[in-house]
Amino acid sequence: MKPNILMLEQMMPNVEARLDSDYEVHRPSRVKDRAALISAIGPSVRAVVTGGQTGASNELMDALPALEIIAINGIGTDKVDLQRARARAIRVTTTPDVLTEDVADMAIALLLATARRICFADRFVRTGRWPREHLPLASRVNGKRLGIVGLGRIGRAVARRAEAFGMTIAYNALDRVADVGYRYERDLAALAGESDFLVVAASGGAATRGLVGRAVLDALGPSGLLINVARGSVVDEQALVTALAEGRLGGAGLDVFANEPDVPQELWHMDNVVLQPHQASATVETRRAMAELVLANLAAHFAGRELPTAVA
Ligand code: 8YV
Repeated sequence: MKPNILMLEQMMPNVEARLDSDYEVHRPSRVKDRAALISAIGPSVRAVVTGGQTGASNELMDALPALEIIAINGIGTDKVDLQRARARAIRVTTTPDVLTEDVADMAIALLLATARRICFADRFVRTGRWPREHLPLASRVNGKRLGIVGLGRIGRAVARRAEAFGMTIAYNALDRVADVGYRYERDLAALAGESDFLVVAASGGAATRGLVGRAVLDALGPSGLLINVARGSVVDEQALVTALAEGRLGGAGLDVFANEPDVPQELWHMDNVVLQPHQASATVETRRAMAELVLANLAAHFAGRELPTAVA
């Protein structure tokens, strides 16, 4: 009998086909009554396949008494209670490394798009304003001061790109990172005060919730830009919306939000803001590589082999 798995986020069609051939895949998104599905198949579900955005709630874990493994198609574990998983000996896997470069690309893309007002200028052309109106000047990106919040794999990949732009790089993290030459700033508000752009690349979760709040945004100031490719939870979203609305912050490039897929409506109408629907890892190449890791972890688990990329 094929193991029962519960699939919480869509994957590429060829990946789903491979999953279907090896497992009995149940998809709550395809049924009208999710609760009925979970109560019917819950007792026999051995694996959950999910995304970093969705994770697996405690309520869901509790409804799956036979659960053995949660394979996250992403690196974020902030939506999975790892302690609870460990307590039940549920293994948890992620997809490290393969998405790093794409997420860093998105950070730079958002930075360029926000500073150079690419999306605003595009709308300016498309709506026929070019011949009649004057487009205000944008801000330069090269040579500026970049602050990075969280210098893990993604933060470092952003820094490498920023070096090519001749930027001065400093970072804030819980601890100084030993093998980099960038300046460490322990105080996040101080880092923001000394930066033209602040890129958030820290993990989500309780430890970083609301880290970028009013004091940090005010320090970044009316000509500063905030870029977030990490988790919406790291930024106090209401404080961000208010700072933008009051002109206390220059602009923002955001791939992630506090309550996805809900994006505060105030942001929709701001020309100094660039919005993305959580797309940083969403390239064919990266999603293929992420999927291979998900499949490899599941295969290893059900074959009793060591898991390639386990976090719990
Ligand atoms: C994905 C992510 O968009 O890696 C993560 O944690 O949030 C993103 O790469 C996500 O996993 C798909 O839900």
